[in-house]
Amino acid sequence: MVLEAGGAAAQVSGTDPADVAWSFSHLDPAVAETAYDTLGAIRRGCPVARSGELDGFVLVTGYAEIREAARASDRFSACVDGLGAAAVVTGMREAVAPMFETDDDHHHQWRRLLQTFFTPAAAATQAQYVRAVCREVLQELIPHGAADLVGAYVRQVPPLVIGRVLGLAELERAWLSEHVRALYNAETLTEAQQAGRIYADFLRGQIHQRRTHPTGDLLSVMVNAQVDGRTAEDDELVKMTMLMVAAGHLTTADACATALLRLLEDTSLREHITSAPATLEAFVEELVRYDPAVAATGRTVTTETHLGGMPLFPGDRLLLAWGSANRDERVFDDGDHFRLDRDHSGPQHLGWGAGEHRCLGRHLARVELRVMLTELLRALPGLRLQSGATVRRTFGVIRGVAGLPVRWEQQ
Ligand code: HEM
Repeated sequence: MVLEAGGAAAQVSGTDPADVAWSFSHLDPAVAETAYDTLGAIRRGCPVARSGELDGFVLVTGYAEIREAARASDRFSACVDGLGAAAVVTGMREAVAPMFETDDDHHHQWRRLLQTFFTPAAAATQAQYVRAVCREVLQELIPHGAADLVGAYVRQVPPLVIGRVLGLAELERAWLSEHVRALYNAETLTEAQQAGRIYADFLRGQIHQRRTHPTGDLLSVMVNAQVDGRTAEDDELVKMTMLMVAAGHLTTADACATALLRLLEDTSLREHITSAPATLEAFVEELVRYDPAVAATGRTVTTETHLGGMPLFPGDRLLLAWGSANRDERVFDDGDHFRLDRDHSGPQHLGWGAGEHRCLGRHLARVELRVMLTELLRALPGLRLQSGATVRRTFGVIRGVAGLPVRWEQQ
């Protein structure tokens, strides 16, 4: 396969897009740098295509086709093995997490129970805490004059925030934050399994406490929810909480890293946003369209059907490439370009998903991103990438940046 890199103009030279799709895996680190060139070429040729990777799946890259699959829960289930969001949780494959991996009425009941914790008003109440955490982290960083912002900033803040949203006390939040970082930074399977076990045991303890002494916090509501006449079992709850923590922190951390990379690479955009902070709202929304932190999640076909003309059979797994939908030339003008002044009143971008599983935490994510970016730009003037640094993009279920080595002026 030969790819000519270079934005919207990228073409697959002399290669059938169906062949490119056949060898595409979102979990292959090699796809990250040119992911949207590759996905664009596939989308323009065949918006629904088969891949032979990862034991075979159907790669969906077109806007209309992704939206249809996300909205038709009677044909496509959110419970999928090995491709989607649950793939980021290690060691808990066998349990089903009620919120994320169930459909229809069961999922609606859960969603109704939890959504009061994720309204715009509830998200706004977190802003002060997010600001305080950002300031504390930055206060420590400022004297150093240089750091990798991924490890030192963007991964420090969101785990504490999601811990607070769940209802954990301050020390428990700090524990959670440290241990989820250990889990996702693990370099070997053994390390990951060990970190995963410690983390799961901690959550089991929190769950048991709330079975006997519910407090009305989010975790208590999850633990004591009566859905279909029963409460969820421990393993379901542990997996659901792990996914809630992953949904709340991996996404926001990587979205913040992607945002910072854009601001570091485009000084005039950074100056514009610093001088007109009200534009941050538009910046965050365009970022989630252009390069969403949730890049691709899965669905399982439950009945014989068609999508984009392709016949599908029960058990077929779909991979919905949300970021590719957001650049679909049939829907978005100039979709391969980041435009701060883009009019978002037209078709809704799919960076927050679509249908019944559309991101529950989007209002919280918007608040976190705005506060994290505002505080960082204010605290570290003259921020720039370290000279000679190469920044590696990541891609998979989650899209982000591996490291951001930067320097700043010391006051
Ligand atoms: C920039 C940050 C974020 C992005 C781009 C994002 C994106 C998404 C997307 C695309 C989905 C749908 C997945 C699918 O249908 O397969 C989703 C679902 C979800 N997100 Fe987010 N998300 C972000 C931050 C957050 C935060 C901070 C939370 C807080 C807990 C959160 C909680 C959830 C939950 C609970 C779901 C599942 C909803 C359901 O199954 O009904 N997300 N997110």
